[in-house]
Amino acid sequence: MGSSVTSTLLTGIAELTTHADSGGLADSTVADAAMVVVDGRVAWTGPGAGAPDADERVELGGRAVIPGFVDSHAHLVFAGDRAQEFAARMTGAPYSAGGIRTTVAATRGASDDVLRSNLRRLVGEMLRQGTTTVECKSGYGLTVEDEARALRLAREQVEAVTYLGAHVVPAEYKDRAGEYVDLVKGPMLDACAPYADFADVFCERGAFDEEQTREILTAARAKGLDLRLHANQLGNGPGVQLAVEFGAASADHCTFLDDKDIDALAGSQTIATLLPGVEFSTRSPYPDARRLLDAGATVAIATDCNPGSCYTNSMPFCIAVAVRDMHMSPAEALWAATVGGAKALRRDDVGHLGVGARADFAVLDAPSYLHLAYRPGVPLVHRVWKNGTPVA
Ligand code: NIG
Ligand code: FE
Repeated sequence: MGSSVTSTLLTGIAELTTHADSGGLADSTVADAAMVVVDGRVAWTGPGAGAPDADERVELGGRAVIPGFVDSHAHLVFAGDRAQEFAARMTGAPYSAGGIRTTVAATRGASDDVLRSNLRRLVGEMLRQGTTTVECKSGYGLTVEDEARALRLAREQVEAVTYLGAHVVPAEYKDRAGEYVDLVKGPMLDACAPYADFADVFCERGAFDEEQTREILTAARAKGLDLRLHANQLGNGPGVQLAVEFGAASADHCTFLDDKDIDALAGSQTIATLLPGVEFSTRSPYPDARRLLDAGATVAIATDCNPGSCYTNSMPFCIAVAVRDMHMSPAEALWAATVGGAKALRRDDVGHLGVGARADFAVLDAPSYLHLAYRPGVPLVHRVWKNGTPVA
């Protein structure tokens, strides 16, 4: 190893899940393993008995190691919360996307520093729960300045940033949705594109319809942004088909799918991102993960952390729900929360621990990743490494 670069050998790994062959689920878990990290990257993984020498040694004491979670869907730039709305929902009120406007008002009224520190708190919570790559959307500003501000602030703290000016039509554009769409695909897009990797539209009855979604996606793509979509969350609709037609990186929610939606996802590169915390927190039926997986679609799991439909940012919690209530196997759920999320962000350097990957991983206070679903609600993340360094 070069003299200026330090190599670190991690030993005493009871079970190492590398997902090194990120195409499949099998054969990616090694018992009694070791890993070598050099220059922030994975340099070697294998049985502990065959581990090479290194400059430093870290003993993990029989714990499991998994790739850091990739949370590919979150809304983290906002002020206030909607705890009262949640309480009302739990005693019978339905979820309505109209609540978004409550958060828009609070967010517009907040200073940069308030938004920044809220974001810092949420991203810190995520890191401590094993999430090492975060995607964050705008969508609670809905003016040119407030959307650009949200993306600029997100850019300071997360790796993947998504322009969601098309979250809902804001109150001041009531009955003038067409004018708002013109703003979203025109001046607002111009102001936001420099900060964004992706554009997203909430394609849903009560938000944006097929034609409006097409117009916004077409303009965003012309600006060089990759695409993703909030699709088929509250009912059947055109969202999934549009995501596939536009070659979007992901179609998110996928709660109400018909046969042609399943076929379209299975025959495409578009990742079906499932957000089990939303159905949990809105007491809604879960998406049919089994049908998607069995049809051959690629599935990711993300939190959708936001103050309305789902205010958890815990990937272990979402894995537990996906396993318990969506009938994903623990291996499928872990893969979806790591490699799946990376694919949804079009990244191949994170979400796995193959040689050359970024050394982002979680050390679990458990002998196996199975405990993530087996012991829901228990803080099993012992330590988190990012870029080859312990950070939490
Ligand atoms: O992904 N569906 C649209 N947006 C969010 C909810 C936002 C909110 O209720 O504040 C979601 O569920
Ligand atoms: Fe969302």
